[in-house]
Amino acid sequence: MPGIVIVGAQWGDEGKGKITDLLAEHADAVARFQGGNNAGHTIVRGGEEWKLHLIPSGILYPGKCCVIGNGVVIDPKVLIEELNALRARRIDVSGLRISANAHLIMPYHLLLDSAGEAKLGSLQIGTTRRGIGPCYADKAARLGIRVQDLLDEKILKKKIVAAMEPKRLSLRPFEKDPALDLHTMTEEYLTYGHRLEQHIADTAKLMWELLDDGKKVIFEGAQGAMLDIDHGTYPFVTSSNPLAGAACVGTGVGPKAIDEIWGISKAYTTRVGAGPFPSELHDEMGEMIRARGGEFGTTTGRPRRTGWLDLVALRYAARLNTMTSLVITKLDVLSGLDRIQVCTSYRGVEGPVFEDFPYHQTVLHHAEAELTELRGWEEDLGECRAISDLPDAAREYLEFIAEHAGAPVALIGVGPGREQVLWTDAGLQTLVAPSGVPLGDPAGG
Ligand code: IMP
Repeated sequence: MPGIVIVGAQWGDEGKGKITDLLAEHADAVARFQGGNNAGHTIVRGGEEWKLHLIPSGILYPGKCCVIGNGVVIDPKVLIEELNALRARRIDVSGLRISANAHLIMPYHLLLDSAGEAKLGSLQIGTTRRGIGPCYADKAARLGIRVQDLLDEKILKKKIVAAMEPKRLSLRPFEKDPALDLHTMTEEYLTYGHRLEQHIADTAKLMWELLDDGKKVIFEGAQGAMLDIDHGTYPFVTSSNPLAGAACVGTGVGPKAIDEIWGISKAYTTRVGAGPFPSELHDEMGEMIRARGGEFGTTTGRPRRTGWLDLVALRYAARLNTMTSLVITKLDVLSGLDRIQVCTSYRGVEGPVFEDFPYHQTVLHHAEAELTELRGWEEDLGECRAISDLPDAAREYLEFIAEHAGAPVALIGVGPGREQVLWTDAGLQTLVAPSGVPLGDPAGG
């Protein structure tokens, strides 16, 4: 801190929301910088469960400044539903600020996402069908509709017409869909504008002010490094950059605003959607991890693909993010195993061994995981509250991960609750501000 980025180090669903929620208690603001409601965070607090898709996890702290940055794509209908659901549970949402420059997911983006997937047939990406890709495509094509456009009827209408014009052919099958009627769409989006107006702001300026005042800001990523559109397993990726570098562009600050970069990884690997996954398990062990880890998507409910921890990919993610610390979540899921496997290299079809993540798609698609076997442990970890409570084999596993990934472990998750998080010395040091003042008592948080 003061500027700490939380990013996914795998294919998403690593538990970023929970970690953000934990750190948010000691922060002044939380800012989302990319993705949209393709993401889903589950936070368990005081026995209650919260599912968030767009609003930063910090919202559960009364009045906390929560920013939806310009790099996020917003489905306003989903955002309003999320706000209403929070209000209904008496959560103070007054701290929410939405970038006027963020792009909006429109009804045609949703239709085009699904139609695009259907057209790809067996080659489909397995998107969340939330309109994310088509929205970012319009942004790049300079045909996007932005949050600020919701406040000006004339401009909104003009922009919708301009955005739909080049899509006429692909939208033909949906001609009769009432959601595509210009009048209906404009009216609907103007209503969203009225509902959101109190939260719309110049969020880049807000970020500068916060950072100038020495406030602690968490930059909250969605998805994970391997889904990055530039560095991930393209084309089986999302349409944004879930990397630490994007935290700057997606909120409007420079790289010097960032002090710490925490990469979140599960103790094993999961992936939803299609694409290469060298350490995937297609056997009973994979089933066991899915069942014990509750590996079903928060957003789509899809069963997640499961596999051993992939240290080739994790090391790659550590480099892509200049990760300063690692957080290992769901370590408890691996309890009761005699031996644990980890992927430490890949073997290509003709036998070459890859210690580094292969840049070539064809190589990656045929790569097989080479596994290293480590000692497992019997003990249930749910009651562990300090690193010293962990069995030796679990500590060895964490040391092996840190050494291979090239980043120290700061935090370890041993269950869904807030108290089921263990802080290492490296983690505690991170939470000490440059002035040397500890930022609260994380263990008691
Ligand atoms: P899209 O982001 O909906 O376009 O989907 C592209 C790919 O990213 C698909 O494989 C999705 O399953 C995956 N994806 C998108 N968001 C998430 C997420 O939050 N967690 C895990 N996978 C995701």
